[in-house]
Amino acid sequence: MPIQLLGTGSYTPEKILTNHDLEKIVDTNDEWISTRTGIRERRIASEEQATSDLALIAAQRALKSSGVDASELDVVLIATCTPDMAFPSTATLVQNRLGAKNAFAMDLSAACSGFIFALETARNLLDAGRYRTALVIGAEKMSSLLNWEDRGTCILFGDGAGAVVLRNEEGSKGGLGPCILGSNGSLSELLQVPAGGSRRPVTPQVLEEHSNTITMAGQEVFKHAVLNMTSTAKKLLKQAEWEPSELALVIPHQANHRILEAIRTRVGVDKDNVFVNVHKYGNTSSASVGIALDEAVAQGRLKPGDRVMLLAFGAGFTWGGMLLEWRTPA
Ligand code: COA
Repeated sequence: MPIQLLGTGSYTPEKILTNHDLEKIVDTNDEWISTRTGIRERRIASEEQATSDLALIAAQRALKSSGVDASELDVVLIATCTPDMAFPSTATLVQNRLGAKNAFAMDLSAACSGFIFALETARNLLDAGRYRTALVIGAEKMSSLLNWEDRGTCILFGDGAGAVVLRNEEGSKGGLGPCILGSNGSLSELLQVPAGGSRRPVTPQVLEEHSNTITMAGQEVFKHAVLNMTSTAKKLLKQAEWEPSELALVIPHQANHRILEAIRTRVGVDKDNVFVNVHKYGNTSSASVGIALDEAVAQGRLKPGDRVMLLAFGAGFTWGGMLLEWRTPA
């Protein structure tokens, strides 16, 4: 039974923080950030906005574009590494505010690969036949994990949310195809938030050291991101027996333009067929693939039958990819 994406939605906060704004906060400059990362600006949530507030708007937009009422949802999944609080889950808060009273809701954590991990989880729940309609959201307030004195990390991230509605839709053509997910916890120290969890709860010392914020070995992470996303893309194409030239659009996690270029050339995809919006939002972690997908739809980049690849890599390490054929309505 095909599992279809019925609609998409996204939300990014109104406040824009440009590279020039960052020049006033840390020792950096627009030229360095642009050439090393491709990022020109990012969105930053207001103090009052939590991850669930961003997720809610993206979810409402996805439901609207799907023509699905919240009461029809059976499952609400949110991929996030910046939940509103330890519990209840951010998904439960969003479920309530949406009025999705027939759904169960839970969070899932796979850092920047979260959206694809959640998509695959929801797809399997629907595929098993017990549930029909799912809402998958990737949402992050990454600014809450940043040390604004660390120029190696604070320039990279932004806030936002992306969402899709999935349905087990009898008689339709296309839909979600092969998926590969992977994890390697032996490299977890290369990208982490060392404190603020149960290992090292927040103490005055943690705050003093800023160890409740992101630490990263940038060059190592770069290397693994390229290796893992490239091999995932190649394996998926082989599995589906698709040529790289048959991909209408690759929608990768938006971390760094140089990473995207390295993968694109290794896999052999044309420049025009890779979706890029990292210049506008920076790295929004779990939200990034969902936001990019929604923007691609809004720009009319996807038509029925188009072959699409989603790709992501993140802390853990985690990585994943999924192929899909854009929906041809039944
Ligand atoms: N502005 C100006 N200079 C900076 C800077 C900034 N924001 N950040 C670092 N630098 C400096 C460094 O201090 C270093 O200076 P030095 O040579 O005097 O010591 C120099 O720039 C080079 O630093 P380096 O860390 O080697 O740069 P890089 O080319 O590896 O680029 C990243 C750094 C973070 C942009 C890059 O490694 C990267 O993108 N990695 C992957 C990150 C990522 O995507 N993470 C999320 C994965 S989901």
